[in-house]
This record gives sequence, C-alpha cells and structure tokens, in this order.
Amino acid sequence: MRWPERVTIMDVGPRDGLQNEPYLLATDQKIRLIEGLVAAGLEWIQATSFVHPKAVPQMADAAQVAAGLPPGDGVRYFALIPNDKGYERALASGLKHISLVLGATETMNQKNLNMSVAESMAIAGRLLKRAHSDGVTVRVDVSVAFVCAYEGVVDPQSVVQQTAELFALGANQVCLCDTTGRADPRQVAYLFDQVRRAHGSERLAGHFHNTYGMALANTLAAMQQGIGFFDTSVGGLGGCPYSPGASGNTPTEDLVHMLERMGIETGIDLERLCDACELVREFSGKIPPSAYYRATRIKSAAKVSANEA
Ligand code: COA
Ligand code: ZN
Repeated sequence: MRWPERVTIMDVGPRDGLQNEPYLLATDQKIRLIEGLVAAGLEWIQATSFVHPKAVPQMADAAQVAAGLPPGDGVRYFALIPNDKGYERALASGLKHISLVLGATETMNQKNLNMSVAESMAIAGRLLKRAHSDGVTVRVDVSVAFVCAYEGVVDPQSVVQQTAELFALGANQVCLCDTTGRADPRQVAYLFDQVRRAHGSERLAGHFHNTYGMALANTLAAMQQGIGFFDTSVGGLGGCPYSPGASGNTPTEDLVHMLERMGIETGIDLERLCDACELVREFSGKIPPSAYYRATRIKSAAKVSANEA
C-alpha cells in the first residue's frame, strides 16, 4: 500500500476542544491559543461555533473570537454552525469557511440540534446554495457517523447515503466524525472504503475521539483507504456536551509526531505545538492528555502540581 506524502490537519481545539471543558476561557485566551496554533504552522483551524449560547456557553463569544483572529497568511478559519442563523452570524463576522453539523442518527440530531435529520438536510441544501453564491466553502461534519451514544452502532449504508446526498447538494468536503470515540479501525476502514469508492478520497475527512485510545488506530485505518485530511485537537481536548461519555479528539501532537516518524509531511512544528499545549495547561490547570506532550514536556513528577496529577 502507498502512504500519502502529505496529510492535512485541521485543529478543532478552539471549538471541539473548548466546548466541553468545565471552565470558560476569556476571548483573549482563546485568541492566544489560536495564535499558538498559527505559530506552529496550522493552516486549518476550527476557531469557534455560532450555535445557541445557551446550548454551548463556551462559544458565546464567537463573534469576538472571529474579530480577534490573527491574520495568518494562508490560514483558513472555520466556524461550526447548525443552521441559517449560525451561517448568517458567521458571515457577519467575516468568516468564509463553514463546518455545517448534521447527525447520522435521529436521536443525536434531536439532542444536539433539536431537529430531525431531514430538517438538517434541508438546511444543508439551502445553505450550500447560498454559500455557492457567497463564495463560502462548506464542509459538512457528520456527527456520530460510526457509533451513536443513544442508538448504538450506526448502519454504514445510511452514512454512505447521507454522504452521497451531501455531495450532490454541493458540499466541498464531508467529514465523518467518530463523536463518541467508540469506532474501531475495521469499521472505519469499511465506511471510508465505501465512500471513497463513490466519491474519491480528495473531499473526505476523518474526525476521531480518543475515548478508548483508538483515535490514532482509526486515523491509520482511514489513511489506508487514501484519506489525507483529519481533525485533531491541541493537547487532545474535546468532546460534545450532547454526546455523553466521549473524551477528547486525537491530540494534534500525537498525530503530527506519528506522521513525522512515518516520513509523512504535515507542515506543523511539534515544538511550537507543544508550546500551544503549555497554554492549554495554563488555562485549564490540567496536564493535557496528549501523549507526545506528556512524554517530552512532563519529565518529572516534580513538575506536576498536586491538582494537575
Ligand atoms: N446562534 C444563536 N442563536 C440562535 C441560533 C444560532 N445559530 N439558532 C437559533 N438561535 C436562536 C433563535 O434566534 C431563537 O431566538 P429567540 O428565541 O430570541 O427568537 C432561538 O434560538 C430559538 O430558535 P430555534 O431555531 O427554535 O432553535 P432551537 O432552540 O431549536 O435550537 C439550535 C436549535 C441548533 C440553535 C441549538 O440546538 C444549538 O445551538 N445546538 C448546537 C449544539 C452544539 O453546538 N453542539 C456541539 C457541536 S456539534
Ligand atoms: Zn468531535
């Protein structure tokens, strides 16, 4: 098999990472974190989400975050949105890259977005048309594409069908998300094989949570199907408040490190990335779960304060 020469990584830490944390960061802390990611060479960053502030209070300052984003040549800042109002708020804040979220199962969509999958699909149809004329790129994040916290294992054929519908509506990219972190590599390989056969691998992305320690294995399984675009989170933060039990995303450092070891380019500087992890540690008061960060920066127990351990 041939490995890709290069893998593209979108850091979703400022959104997926922070939305599930018990503490609230100030806007300028979020901006400092994003500056750290840009300094590390990240060119794709999911910076915030324009959702209902009551649904996710951590994202209530989305417009202020958007206003404070560092210019960063060639950096594409994405905002996650659930509906037309989110789209309008994102555009009014000057963002041109959208992640539209839609659930693979009815129960998840109801819990997360208070609407049916069919309603979300209708929103996708509407917004993809608007985006085309607004010059906005839209990828669709299909949450719980593998295992749903409420409905269990998801029928892969229903995700294959959703993906086909989304591409037919004009999605620039479809990202299959293991929101619960319960997927296994065989399931991941099967689903990505199915969608790649139908649509090619170029416009597909994977998003894995590390709940059971399988995020890197799942990434590798997707890479073996030719997928070269993955979401990760600085330090390994992350989770969805409406998908109970999930832990953080694939830590960005761990994927960059693995790929570096495999001779695969990411354009990301691991040391600068660990500097961004230091910010996560400072803001959260906890040592981030990232294995690479822990192995290289937390060298002795003496450096760990009692409440971080
Ligand atoms: N941003 C801010 N406010 C929004 C909004 C958005 N994207 N979408 C709707 N609203 C407001 C409406 O303007 C309305 O306000 P009003 O009562 O002052 O008139 C109110 O919310 C209710 O609108 P409605 O369309 O009925 O929304 P809802 O209550 O059914 O909630 C969502 C639907 C999608 C907005 C909400 O479930 C949500 O934000 N979910 C996102 C959850 C999330 O981020 N999960 C993690 C990431 S996957
Ligand atoms: Zn996620």
